[in-house]
Amino acid sequence: MHRPRRLRQTKALRALVAETSLNRSDLVLPLFVREGIDTPSPIESMPGVVQHTMGTLPKAVAQAAEAGLSGVMLFGVPATRDACGSAGDADSGILNLALQQVKAEVGDDMVVMADTCIDEFTDHGHCGVLDEDGNVDNDATLERYTKVAIAQARAGADVVGLSGMMDGQVAAVRHGLDGQGLHDTVLLAYAAKYASALYGPFREAVDSQLTGDRTTYQQDPANRRESVREVQMDIEQGADIVMVKPASFYLDIISDTAELSSVPVWAYQVSGEYAMIEAAAEKGWVSREKAIVESLLSIKRAGAEAILTYYAAEVADMLA
Ligand code: PBG
Repeated sequence: MHRPRRLRQTKALRALVAETSLNRSDLVLPLFVREGIDTPSPIESMPGVVQHTMGTLPKAVAQAAEAGLSGVMLFGVPATRDACGSAGDADSGILNLALQQVKAEVGDDMVVMADTCIDEFTDHGHCGVLDEDGNVDNDATLERYTKVAIAQARAGADVVGLSGMMDGQVAAVRHGLDGQGLHDTVLLAYAAKYASALYGPFREAVDSQLTGDRTTYQQDPANRRESVREVQMDIEQGADIVMVKPASFYLDIISDTAELSSVPVWAYQVSGEYAMIEAAAEKGWVSREKAIVESLLSIKRAGAEAILTYYAAEVADMLA
């Protein structure tokens, strides 16, 4: 008789035959930095996550490095906003100042990444600039992303994370960076990104001004084949890494992407995924640490090689 249970007898045996493992070095910690605050500000819908001050951010990054993480992804929350998100590419913009500080602190010990989008900086909260009719203007937005990426690279970003889902964004930003001699800046393309309810807590985290939704530029959760095209196009345009987002509800997409991609595949366990685990654990309905580890293992098992997760530092400590 075939007895699959034979390999499940002890913890040591199970460890030896495990097909997937979590490593500290494949976790990236997203961090928020907010302009004009003196003390870190808790994000209610993400218990345990805060908006950092310029003062506390470098320490959080240094701690992440000590915990054994390889990267951080920074998001800026500005004090003032306008229609084109000009704080995104201003040298004095909060995210660019933060990149400078963080890079000075960690040097090459840590891969420093920036969210290369303008929704945090626009007064309407959309990821692009609007045309006269109030629609997101794809090609005008590409010019904005290019400027933002150049400013971020100059401020110290090793990786620019294109999260806006404009068509042609990877090619446009690569061309713009290369034109400035910024050949070494890595392009992380949020290649398959869905219009998801799971970004809810992030809206609070960045004090988003959005009233409508992002369904004219982010993908429809009903679609699977469409992601194959999105990923292929981003690779053709020069993406160094492709990412799927959210992660847990989109394991099929991660699996498809891993199969077709010739570049590394990452996934983003987003704010709502974090919030759901936290809320259920708080009620005592799931075992918190087990749910965290299982969620991340599942994302890796589906095919992601690295994961952006708000649990990164905590899990790194758990694994140590
Ligand atoms: C766009 C961006 C978003 C997130 C990361 N980059 C928000 C959105 O697309 O609406 C969401 C991350 C999360 O929910 O944790 N700048």
